[in-house]
Amino acid sequence: MPRTTRIALDLASAGAEVSPRLFGTFVEHMGRCVYGGIHEPAHPTADAAGFREDVLQLVRELGATVVRYPGGNFVSGYRWEDGVGPVDERPVRLDAAWHSTESNRVGLHELAAWAERAGLELIEAVNLGTRGAAEAADLLEYANHPGGTARSEQRRANGRDEPFGIRIWCLGNEMDGPWQIGHKTADEYGRLAAETARLMRFHDPSLELVAAGSSNREMSTFGEWERTVLRHTAGLVDHISVHAYYEEQDGDAASFLASNVHLDGYIEDVAAIIDEIRAERGITAPIGISVDEWNVWNQTRWNDVDKDGVLSGGWPEAPRLIEDRYTVTDAVVVGSLLISLIRHADRVSMANLAQLVNVIAPIRCEPGGAAWRQPTFFPFRDAARLARGRVIRPEVETDLVATSRYGEVPRIDAVATSDGDTVALFAVNRGLDGAVRVRVPAAGLRPLGAELLAAPADGDRHATNTAYSSAVASRPLEVREEDDDLVFDLPAVSWASIRLARSRT
Ligand code: AHR
Repeated sequence: MPRTTRIALDLASAGAEVSPRLFGTFVEHMGRCVYGGIHEPAHPTADAAGFREDVLQLVRELGATVVRYPGGNFVSGYRWEDGVGPVDERPVRLDAAWHSTESNRVGLHELAAWAERAGLELIEAVNLGTRGAAEAADLLEYANHPGGTARSEQRRANGRDEPFGIRIWCLGNEMDGPWQIGHKTADEYGRLAAETARLMRFHDPSLELVAAGSSNREMSTFGEWERTVLRHTAGLVDHISVHAYYEEQDGDAASFLASNVHLDGYIEDVAAIIDEIRAERGITAPIGISVDEWNVWNQTRWNDVDKDGVLSGGWPEAPRLIEDRYTVTDAVVVGSLLISLIRHADRVSMANLAQLVNVIAPIRCEPGGAAWRQPTFFPFRDAARLARGRVIRPEVETDLVATSRYGEVPRIDAVATSDGDTVALFAVNRGLDGAVRVRVPAAGLRPLGAELLAAPADGDRHATNTAYSSAVASRPLEVREEDDDLVFDLPAVSWASIRLARSRT
């Protein structure tokens, strides 16, 4: 007899609206995300601009809403002008962030046209590592001014008559990290971000600007960084970023599966700092949290790296960097991180799964070959498709599992959303052993369909997908109506999304 858990949904308690921007993604000029990822002119499916149609179809299926571009660490040494104008005349540069050679064959115009085809709103990051306010304003004028100025006419001459109309701009990237090109103290960055924000707002007060928060919660400067940066920028920015990556360390799968306990705390800590500084400065406008890089990233097990390239000191073009092969366990962690983001929709204004293709990505592809879905693709796709309306934080009666990093944590975690007519329930079983029978008091709800992502029949939680086999995919989950409950079973290490209809009485 499996363990039983009860998930009660109080539909009257629906809270914050879930922004579609919670399901954003990230394309960086890094490794094979752009070149050899979304863009491969020699691929049999490539379009006239060199973008792979098979990859594009998977991107559409993933259902992401916004895309952050062009970095990441890359942006801190990037000259945006290198990526515009006739492709054959663009300079080839060394990219010091990833020790690679950058051909600049893809830049703003190509990426924006591709994003439009993919149904993604473009979020542009500006370089505050080696550059400053003037270059950011130049890019803004180039991208968004209708015409009649040097920069806007340059854009038009480069083939784009209408402005790109980019609304959301990131002010630099991970400037707290010593690895960052142009790394700064919180005061140095805060001043520069404020100066840049002011100038960009003189151009267009309606922009949405994102200040760079800490690179991770474990940075020794975490907290003070956010306070200092917000003291400089509160009233000028709309969001502050959070970056969060998780991995299974030293075989401690129980703690890894509970990673969203860490993300919950991280978001709540940053939210408290935002409240503190808004109160201190008398700022009434909200400041959201943009979790603009999050994912599972096996940083201590550097996966599939081009050992003949970057690590040996070369400057390869589009090397294989951090092409993590994700497992069922990783997918369940991604699912639980999505639960945290949705649960905190009152504070999280945007989020970007980092990255989109090949580089720690839900989509992988091979040169001249196949494109495929990694296990992490499925929970993201489910949540992006189904999370609509307002958040419901269910009451979950479950037993606890022991973890060395977070103490005892609930075996089952869940969140739901409701748009009035339908309810979407997302749940993870983060226990390593044994299925759980879940009972949801029906209270006028009826099942419309459900999907499960779990280990294949052999129960291997390390199962993965490759160019040749797609053993891991979501499959239909049976939801039974029993007495006054909806009942389904969650195997150990699994993610489920359940769609329910509300009957109107
Ligand atoms: O997503 C990979 C890298 O992780 C990004 O370039 C950087 O911002 C972060 O450290």
